[in-house]
Amino acid sequence: MIHFGSECVLVVLCCFIIISFGAHLSTASDKLIPGRSLSGNQTLTSPAGKFELGFFTRGNSNNYYIGIWYANLPDHTVVWVANRNHPVSDPVSSEFRFLENGNFTLLDQSKSSIWSTQNSMSSVSKSATYTARLLDNGNFVIQDASGVIWQSFDHPTDTWLPGGARLGYNKLTNQKLALTPWKNPQDPAPGIFSLEIEPNGTSFWLLYNGSQQYWNSGPWNGKSFAQVPEIERNDHITNVTFVPDDKGSYFSYDSADPDTYIRYMIDFTGQFKVYMWGKGFTQWNSFWLRPTQFCEVYGFCGASSICQQNASLCVCMEGYEPKVPKEWGLGDHTDGCVRKAPLKCIAGVDDTFKVVSDVRLPVNPETLAVDNSDDCRLACLRNCSCTAFAYDNRCLVWGGDLFNVKQFTPDEKEGKDLHLKISASERIEGKKENRTLWIIIGVLGGLFIVITIVVVLFVKHRCFGEKLDTLDGSLVMFRCRALRKATNNFSEKLGEGGFGSVFKGTLQGSIAIAVKRLNCPKQEDKQFLTEIGKLEYVPKVADFGLAKLIDRDISRIITTMKGTRGYIAPEWISGEAITSKADTFSYGMLLFELISGRRNRDVLDDALENYFPTRVANVLNKEEDVDALLDYRLEGNADKDQLSRACKVACWCIQDDEKGRPTMGQVVQLLEGVIDAGIPPMPKFLDRFSKSLVASINYRYITSSSSDSCRHDILSEYS
Ligand SMILES: *[C@@H]1O[C@H](CO)[C@@H](O)[C@H](O)[C@H]1NC(C)=O
Ligand SMILES: *[C@@H]1O[C@H](CO)[C@@H](O)[C@H](O)[C@H]1NC(C)=O
Ligand SMILES: *[C@@H]1O[C@H](CO)[C@@H](O)[C@H](O)[C@H]1NC(C)=O
Ligand SMILES: *[C@@H]1O[C@H](CO)[C@@H](O)[C@H](O)[C@H]1NC(C)=O
Ligand SMILES: *[C@@H]1O[C@H](CO)[C@@H](O)[C@H](O)[C@H]1NC(C)=O
Ligand SMILES: *[C@@H]1O[C@H](CO)[C@@H](O)[C@H](O)[C@H]1NC(C)=O
Ligand SMILES: *[C@@H]1O[C@H](CO)[C@@H](O)[C@H](O)[C@H]1NC(C)=O
Repeated sequence: MIHFGSECVLVVLCCFIIISFGAHLSTASDKLIPGRSLSGNQTLTSPAGKFELGFFTRGNSNNYYIGIWYANLPDHTVVWVANRNHPVSDPVSSEFRFLENGNFTLLDQSKSSIWSTQNSMSSVSKSATYTARLLDNGNFVIQDASGVIWQSFDHPTDTWLPGGARLGYNKLTNQKLALTPWKNPQDPAPGIFSLEIEPNGTSFWLLYNGSQQYWNSGPWNGKSFAQVPEIERNDHITNVTFVPDDKGSYFSYDSADPDTYIRYMIDFTGQFKVYMWGKGFTQWNSFWLRPTQFCEVYGFCGASSICQQNASLCVCMEGYEPKVPKEWGLGDHTDGCVRKAPLKCIAGVDDTFKVVSDVRLPVNPETLAVDNSDDCRLACLRNCSCTAFAYDNRCLVWGGDLFNVKQFTPDEKEGKDLHLKISASERIEGKKENRTLWIIIGVLGGLFIVITIVVVLFVKHRCFGEKLDTLDGSLVMFRCRALRKATNNFSEKLGEGGFGSVFKGTLQGSIAIAVKRLNCPKQEDKQFLTEIGKLEYVPKVADFGLAKLIDRDISRIITTMKGTRGYIAPEWISGEAITSKADTFSYGMLLFELISGRRNRDVLDDALENYFPTRVANVLNKEEDVDALLDYRLEGNADKDQLSRACKVACWCIQDDEKGRPTMGQVVQLLEGVIDAGIPPMPKFLDRFSKSLVASINYRYITSSSSDSCRHDILSEYS
């Protein structure tokens, strides 16, 4: 049956291919002559079939545009758009027409011209014969006998292609060849960001609204840009050239391999990205982007909203709502948020303030000469145009829009408190809402407690008949006796971690479980359990979050860490403050082991440069093949993309500066490919590590229990 079914599908599929191929052939051509036009689904195709030009649409809209896209790639990524600002609603009755005078024009359904190439008059006489072609580098050109009179490469949209496309500046006409992103993934209209060449310089910069710079490539040194050394090291890109002369200055590049598609583009997020599609790829792979965090893009979240990098979100401040909800929903947040209700600012009716904690303060504050927080507050309260204040050793106030506020986590210790003015009426409304909220919370909470009790009673009955406890109504606790029984008196040890040993066990005679026996000091138990109950409570491979619970100076804890040395972040050793990023480091080290299938330290016995993290960082930085890094037992059986992503994430996790390490939330997103990981720099400690003497990096086990000598021992491991 199944066999028969699949044959059927195959036959139907073949028919489809033949039909669509046939229809295609009848229109496919790389050339047009004056008087001809494209309508509906007619397209031009470049000679080798790489690019296609015609009408396209995105999303569910009825907006159609003339564009150029990759003909062979399943997602038909668009690289150029003609009528960005003026869509047509019906491609069948619209016409992309080649006029006898050598101009192209787009006529909408009522036959009025909404876009045209506006060529300058040809130098050749009127009898000249014009032709229009789509080339295999994605360039759409209009030629006469004298040569090219118009080309799409001179009117770039959001994409910079290899093979002759230029970015730069024409000194004679003052015309910029710059990139502007789409407004959102469905709307090719120009967004507010742009990538331009600095008019008199040799660097690129990213601008918000044509003036506010938020990233700069640094000057060109003949081979690459100061801030973009990757260009030189990238073997997919070649012939990066800069041509400065009296008339202008331009950059161009080539793809090293004709079968690999490369495109630089500016995304609607305001980030400058490079994408690659090589043989066998199933999607675009972004191997480089700047700025790496969208929260560093000026105005990405618009006015009066907060950028949350961890959640890939912009959130309106309290009392505000998206100004253009439709755009907001499509991911374009640049319009920002507006107040739901205007501030009253009436004498006698005080507005009030809401504290927004741990944020990067908005740009462009005014400084007032008052020297305490209360006076600062009063000054803002009394001035109707003041929207927020912050007191950070001096009084900062803002009038109007609040831009570029970013949420930090309390851990990052970089955030400040912003006091946002909200109207008195809103406070009262807010309270009303709150009451409803509290009722809902109360009802749900009650239900939850009842369900928990039922479940606990049930489990208690089913499991062991052992008495079970609950802590704070959220945790189910097993008696030690029950766990002893489940693990057969802790007989089968699976491994040893930083805070205790792990044993194999069985619940209800069939469910395999792992039980970790902690070596915690007794008085810490309660705090530990409360913290666990609060946690980033789902069983998973994760001790990564416990480091900050442990006080470095408790010598017992330090001694118990001997089991997992090599996973310890450098700041543990140097004595700096520990944040949750110490766990990110440890996670990175574990990830290396998952990739190689070996303990990192095992390889050390062979040769120093074989230290696995060093090897990975080297391979990534030299852009070598990551396949060689994979556990050989998998026989190359891994998705290369995922492998390369995992390698990058691991390297990012072990950066020297904890600020350079991702949060565990970001780690998840990086691994899932939701956000892109650039090439991680070689961590300096690895560099030092490989250069140091063999003797000093031998992993000796600590036997002492005093913290000082412990630290000394570990120091000798790294220094
Ligand atoms: C193109 O459009 C025509 C008429 O609208 C239709 O008959 C034909 O099947 C279409 N061809 C393709 C390849 O979609
Ligand atoms: C193309 O069209 C524009 C505007 O309609 C016109 O100014 C220009 O002269 C035309 N170009 C040629 C070569 O006729
Ligand atoms: C570019 O020109 C502007 C104005 O002419 C000048 O202020 C600026 O310093 C110049 N920048 C460089 C890098 O030469
Ligand atoms: C962008 O700049 C123009 C002036 O150059 C200004 O009128 C406009 O309000 C600015 N838009 C935003 C969103 O800042
Ligand atoms: C690099 O430039 C040279 C000289 O223009 C050219 O011959 C060569 O084909 C280019 N390489 C690629 C990969 O396009
Ligand atoms: C009120 O605040 C705005 C914005 O901070 C400021 O420009 C203005 O000078 C202030 N007015 C007075 C009277 O302090
Ligand atoms: C992101 O961080 C903020 C502030 O710490 C927190 O409120 C929010 O829940 C976090 N979101 C995610 C998805 O981690």
